[in-house]
Amino acid sequence: MKKHIYPGFFSLTIGMLAFYGCQQPSEKKMASGKAGLEKTVFGRLPDGRNADLYTLRNEKGMEVKITNYGGTIVSCTAPDRNGTYADVVLGCDSLAGYLRGTPYFGALVGRYGNRIAKGKFTLDGVTYSLATNNIGNHLHGGITGFDKVLWTASAVENSGANPALKLTYLSKDGEEGYPGNLPVEVVYTLQSDNALKIEYTATTDKKTVVNLTNHAYFNLADAGKSDILGHELLLKAGRFLPVDSTLIPTGELRPVAGTPFDFTRSFKIGARINDSTDTQIRYGLGYDHCWVFDSPGGSLTEPVATLYEPGSGRLLEVLTTEPAIQFYSGNFLDGTVTGKGGLLYRHRTGLCLETEHYPDSPNRPEFPSTVLNPGETYRTTTVYRFSVK
Ligand code: BGC
Repeated sequence: MKKHIYPGFFSLTIGMLAFYGCQQPSEKKMASGKAGLEKTVFGRLPDGRNADLYTLRNEKGMEVKITNYGGTIVSCTAPDRNGTYADVVLGCDSLAGYLRGTPYFGALVGRYGNRIAKGKFTLDGVTYSLATNNIGNHLHGGITGFDKVLWTASAVENSGANPALKLTYLSKDGEEGYPGNLPVEVVYTLQSDNALKIEYTATTDKKTVVNLTNHAYFNLADAGKSDILGHELLLKAGRFLPVDSTLIPTGELRPVAGTPFDFTRSFKIGARINDSTDTQIRYGLGYDHCWVFDSPGGSLTEPVATLYEPGSGRLLEVLTTEPAIQFYSGNFLDGTVTGKGGLLYRHRTGLCLETEHYPDSPNRPEFPSTVLNPGETYRTTTVYRFSVK
């Protein structure tokens, strides 16, 4: 039932209790220990297959739990200024919770993160039709996106102090309307410096479009008990993409200066989120937009986004090779999804920082291309690094 991939990490008894009871991550001062990766059964899918839960742990005591159902980050602990590690993401206790449906909590999103207008795009004169699962548009890969499939998982051998989990999935030609067989690989690595690195690769046998991301909802204070309005955000992005009323970019790259979208210096998320005089805030019901980084395709040496929670002192830095980020302030959370420990996630109790190419790029030749050709390898990396201030 339970397999220790790297031994000497958790006692079997404690592991059994933790994994088959409530998936509550440790909310205590963790003693430093051995880094490793451990696997347990998470639950059974309607088709009889098991989904597993993988726990990555580093020497400092940070823990990330990932299920191969949707490649989903189920929990992720981070230290506060007293050195107390606690969960900082929204999610569910059991596979059943995810199967009931969540707004992409912690999931891998693909083939296309965010929206494609009217679910249509054209490549070499052929128009492809995708599911329109969001007010007439295509969102997050369709009805059965990468968040709802079972990925094949394996531990990356010899990863030492940086335990790593490899997930693979073959998205077949025609799946959700997309052309080309697309083998996808995602590697989650929990680094010894409390950073979670996500590396994505994909290839295709037919010209297609790809835009992969992760949809973790962060709440650095208490994993979703309170709202995120007091979190402070900095985005190294002088422009954002205004949208129409269905959240499709208009094509304009608008300077953020003088608008509620200016996070070029640290701002409390709640400070301007209810500015009803701003049409874009009204369309998004808050923040639900794509910001374009000043230095696109960064080198992974400098954070492009920084999220700080003053109460706990927790700091999250985002580093990415992607040119943009969708900052979504959890506007559609409405207390109807039951999360960990029976918690009902209320309005704006979690926020997403989804690194990505721009929404609707397949219909916008002027945007950086999301086309993948046979013979090319799609490659992108994002790092979520946790520390305190
Ligand atoms: C989108 C939102 C959407 C949310 C959950 C975000 O990436 O931008 O509009 O509601 O995902 O589906």
